[in-house]
Amino acid sequence: MKDVSVTYPDGNRAVNGVSLALGNGERKALVGANGAGKSTLLRAIVGLLSISGGEARVDGIALSARTAPDVRARVGMVFQNPDDQLFMAKVADDVAFGPRNMGLSEDEVNRRVGSALDRLGAAHLKDRVSDRLSGGEKRLVGLASVLSMEPCILLMDEPSSFLDPRSRRNLIKVLSSLPQAILLATHDLDMARRLCSRAVVLRDGRVCAEGSADELLSDKQMLEAHGL
Ligand SMILES: Nc1ncnc2c1ncn2[C@@H]1O[C@H](COP(=O)(O)OP(=O)(O)OP(=O)(O)O)[C@@H](O)[C@H]1O
Ligand SMILES: [Mg+2]
Repeated sequence: MKDVSVTYPDGNRAVNGVSLALGNGERKALVGANGAGKSTLLRAIVGLLSISGGEARVDGIALSARTAPDVRARVGMVFQNPDDQLFMAKVADDVAFGPRNMGLSEDEVNRRVGSALDRLGAAHLKDRVSDRLSGGEKRLVGLASVLSMEPCILLMDEPSSFLDPRSRRNLIKVLSSLPQAILLATHDLDMARRLCSRAVVLRDGRVCAEGSADELLSDKQMLEAHGL
């Protein structure tokens, strides 16, 4: 992203001149206080909001309304609110939705559904009604519905929220084992340090610090100064 701005219809410029890069297989944390612009930035990358200034490229493709479907084929997004992730009646269909849409064979779809739920320790939820899951169960199924598409880039908005300690630890382990590039928006600074090599601090829609996750996320003074 080069100098990217995102303005909401009411004129609020929630992202203001952000430049950042995510390399192949790189895992980068995006941290910042409430309202800093993290979710806005992630939504703009998948084309749910349009960019009002600057330019962004995903895998060489310039982001625009026209290219949004191509970008979405490469980028998987875990939404901050797990309710936004699930829309089918049954868990298995939610997790199968992406792979089915990609035109994969039903055998391959089933393999991916099983493997994604398994990895997250959520195989027992397969036949449940999505709408009747607990917050943490919805989170796991939402994560599985993204992993089942095997996208080359993962955008994750607070993926550890709603999870109990064991599921959270397992999630960190699973994400660490993936080859994908990950942009992780989170307030879970411990997870950010465990998972990411680099970190970016956002404040009022601007990048105010960037560097090694270990160094940046242990800089108490800087974090406190930016409301973290
Ligand atoms: N639909 C909207 N219209 C106008 N302003 C909005 C809209 N959605 C969010 N905002 C504003 O944009 C700014 C950035 O919001 P955003 O949700 O990106 O923050 P965030 O960093 O994800 O915060 P959090 O940590 O609370 O999730 C905030 O000031 C927010 O009030
Ligand atoms: Mg957010």
